Amino acid sequence: MHTLEGKVVAVTGAAKRIGRCIALHLASRGAKIAVHYNTSKTDALATADACGGRAFRADLANVAEIRRLFGEIETAFGRLDCLVNNAAVFRAIDPLEASERDWDAIHSVNLKATFFCCQQAAKIMLRGGGGRIVNIASLGGLRPWAKHVPYCTSKAGVVMLTHGLAKALAPDITVNGIAPGVIHFGDQMPHEIARLVRSTPMGRHGTGEEIAAAVGMLLEGPAFVTGQIVAVDGGLSLK
Ligand SMILES: NC(=O)c1ccc[n+]([C@@H]2O[C@H](COP(=O)([O-])OP(=O)(O)OC[C@H]3O[C@@H](n4cnc5c(N)ncnc54)[C@H](OP(=O)(O)O)[C@@H]3O)[C@@H](O)[C@H]2O)c1
Repeated sequence: MHTLEGKVVAVTGAAKRIGRCIALHLASRGAKIAVHYNTSKTDALATADACGGRAFRADLANVAEIRRLFGEIETAFGRLDCLVNNAAVFRAIDPLEASERDWDAIHSVNLKATFFCCQQAAKIMLRGGGGRIVNIASLGGLRPWAKHVPYCTSKAGVVMLTHGLAKALAPDITVNGIAPGVIHFGDQMPHEIARLVRSTPMGRHGTGEEIAAAVGMLLEGPAFVTGQIVAVDGGLSLK
């Protein structure tokens, strides 16, 4: 088993929502958190303050910014033990109307950045003797959603990237994924989301804290688990 006490963990897209929950949970387990954000500076500073970590800005659509980000994290903390790739773009797109720009906006963050963040983090982790990576995929990477074909394709890519990197980076680094089902924040629930919640065997939506606890399980549990995708979806993927 692995303890997070004193470990340095980078969480992308950690200013708000699920990313913030992950940062707070891992900090409560003793980790030092590098809180990544892009546009949400005020929220990121609040998250970093709440978890005793430090905030770092980067547009992950740009690989040069990813290299700079991980250089800054290594300079600040001197090491990196774990990475949680959480940042993503999610929006409905009519497949008959989708432009090249729409496709690239989703894939550059959800898939390309996940790969290059893993690459840059792995180089630092190997200098420190190894590490652990958790990629936040999606139920949409395992099951098709008609209004989100580019998103689902990008998350299916994250699933295969997780399998491939787990083989490539073994035995020093474990690479696993989480596939969240419906995780809801706030009061207003769009009709399409409410329909998915009604289909969920557990009869409710999930919470950011539940995704965070599952990330913690993969970062703190046995190092013999690698290349796996854990659905945290109230059983929705069983339908
Ligand atoms: N919510 C759900 O029900 C659900 C379901 C399945 C899977 N997931 C997955 O779980 C993860 C978190 O979900 P969420 O709903 O909490 O996410 P979110 O709020 O939609 O996005 C998380 C963060 O991604 C960052 N981001 C977007 N574009 C970026 C870019 N170009 N460069 C750097 N950062 C960028 C944003 O940072 P800034 O705000 O700082 O710009 C944003 O705060 C995502 O991977 C998502 O696909 C969520």
